[in-house]
Amino acid sequence: MATFPLYTTSFRGLGQVTERELRDRFSANLTELSSCRVRDYDLTCFTFSGIPDELFELGTIEDLFYQVSALPLSGETTDLEALKVHFQDAPIDAGLNLHRRHTARHDRKRTTFRVVVQARDTSWRHYRRVDMQKAMVQAISRRFPRWRVVDDNADLEFWLQQADRALLLGLRLSDRELRHRTYKVANIPGSLRPTIAHALVYLAGVQDGQVFLDPMCGAGTLLLERARAARHHLLVGGDFNLKAVAQAAENFGPRHRPRGILRWDATHLPLPDACVDRVAANLPWGNQHGSPETNPALYADTVAELNRVLKPGGRAVFLTSEFSLLRDALKKQPDLYLAEQLRKVGVLGREADIFVVGKKGGEAEGRIPKDAPAPPLPPG
Ligand SMILES: C[S@@+](CC[C@H](N)C(=O)[O-])C[C@H]1O[C@@H](n2cnc3c(N)ncnc32)[C@H](O)[C@@H]1O
Repeated sequence: MATFPLYTTSFRGLGQVTERELRDRFSANLTELSSCRVRDYDLTCFTFSGIPDELFELGTIEDLFYQVSALPLSGETTDLEALKVHFQDAPIDAGLNLHRRHTARHDRKRTTFRVVVQARDTSWRHYRRVDMQKAMVQAISRRFPRWRVVDDNADLEFWLQQADRALLLGLRLSDRELRHRTYKVANIPGSLRPTIAHALVYLAGVQDGQVFLDPMCGAGTLLLERARAARHHLLVGGDFNLKAVAQAAENFGPRHRPRGILRWDATHLPLPDACVDRVAANLPWGNQHGSPETNPALYADTVAELNRVLKPGGRAVFLTSEFSLLRDALKKQPDLYLAEQLRKVGVLGREADIFVVGKKGGEAEGRIPKDAPAPPLPPG
């Protein structure tokens, strides 16, 4: 069976979720799994045996790369010459074939390419990022003289990513659709990136046939990621901002029923007790949608309300940087316990933690029988 050296990128702090996603779905195909950090991204490297088509379905990754090579760096300018020499014989055909398999054929006469460099400035490296980029463009042009370098919209993208004193050279196999999805037609400030939303949904441990709630759904990203992850019994979400409710409905379009998206106050949900299996929420934090004066009461009242609607054995996942507010709110609910905390996830230039909270009790981890009726939805 063919094997491919590959790596994925995920937002900083989410590499560990990507690793779990990989092991869950592809444990039989993976060897040599390792990870490193490059600027604001976690890289997960592995060898994949078999055709890696389904890797494009991983929800927490920003991109998938074919790993052309990994080179040690000394920091001296001789690294640049070594990069050029190395690339002349680097194994790349399998990567080009994978790329062809996953991208629409271009009708240009000459293949175009560009080189992206991700490297932090360091004192030990005596050359700049732009020097690395130039060296790589020269190396590619020497090996493939018919190819043409462009600034944007290239057929092929080669990425140089510096992790400590090593340089990873990759061919990007995915395009922007992988990370941005196709459903997001309406966007609002503070709207969650789909890959982060997917990580929350994944950590909630969703299964077919559950009732899923986002009490502060904004543009609906979490609900939509839940809809893609597994079959649902009911998706229910709301927001007190009418515009957000309209945008969530627009992003859903006619898909993913049954579902209800309502205007509501998350501290007084129009839902019966113990009717929800899983909750995920991007709570107001930082300067998003909340304020230091109102957030303490909002957190306490929302968590109390979620405790009321969660089934015993259910789970709730929160994204926030208001650690003490959430912890204080949880302390007031003895039925709830903190199962896991993922620290320092990079969210558009800021940092927040992911809290996985369980509700005590329940026999089958909040799973509901297939024929159980969905909770009644209030009119909205
Ligand atoms: C950080 S944003 C969540 C964004 C959303 N996850 C997305 O991807 O678009 C917080 C949301 O909570 C909503 N919100 C704040 N307080 C609320 C409350 N008491 N009830 C319902 N929604 C509330 C805001 O209107 C805002 O849309």
